[in-house]
Amino acid sequence: MIQPQQGSGLSLVWAMSENGVIGSGGTLPWSLPDDLAHFKRLTHGHPVLMGRRTWDSLWLRPLPGRLNIVLTRNPTFSADGAQVVTSLDQAFELGTTDRMFCIGGAILFDEVMHRADRLEVTLVHAEVDGDVYMPSVDWSDWALTEETLHPADDRHAYAFSFRSYERIDD
Ligand SMILES: NC(=O)c1ccc[n+]([C@@H]2O[C@H](COP(=O)([O-])OP(=O)(O)OC[C@H]3O[C@@H](n4cnc5c(N)ncnc54)[C@H](OP(=O)(O)O)[C@@H]3O)[C@@H](O)[C@H]2O)c1
Repeated sequence: MIQPQQGSGLSLVWAMSENGVIGSGGTLPWSLPDDLAHFKRLTHGHPVLMGRRTWDSLWLRPLPGRLNIVLTRNPTFSADGAQVVTSLDQAFELGTTDRMFCIGGAILFDEVMHRADRLEVTLVHAEVDGDVYMPSVDWSDWALTEETLHPADDRHAYAFSFRSYERIDD
């Protein structure tokens, strides 16, 4: 029987379109306030790990109520209100006391996917143009544990689904 794996304590959280786009021109390709609220509910109180480009893309820096960890190869990079690290090992040392959320972008997701035990995916039910795509995910490693549909409405141009996954222990 398929069982979720015992936790590594790392979740990846992202929003992507049906065609895999997660970014466009250094920002998000949509405005979906209820997805941002969902992101805040999930991550509040936890360390959030992000690549330097994602840090640059945030309209509110640092994300409040969370230890913001920014990964860069630039040893002189400074980010007000965030902890800057130059290696993934340093990042995981900071985040090990708690569940940590990797919040992107594509480069980071690709590097840490193998360490994650949970995925929190917002699937935006649209095909959109963009220049940053989610790296491929081997969905056979993951069990869907929850799914909620949010319809399009006056504030949301697209419908979207919140999907939670746990890694399958094989
Ligand atoms: N839809 C979503 O859920 C979502 C989530 C997050 C981001 N995004 C979008 O994605 C885009 C940004 O993503 P991205 O893939 O271009 O960049 P990214 O993953 O955010 O950042 C990449 C940068 O992180 C640093 N880095 C990566 N691996 C490293 C390592 N092993 N050691 C040290 N530093 C490392 C490097 O910074 P340096 O260049 O400074 O060395 C690298 O250039 C934006 O458009 C953003 O809006 C979307």
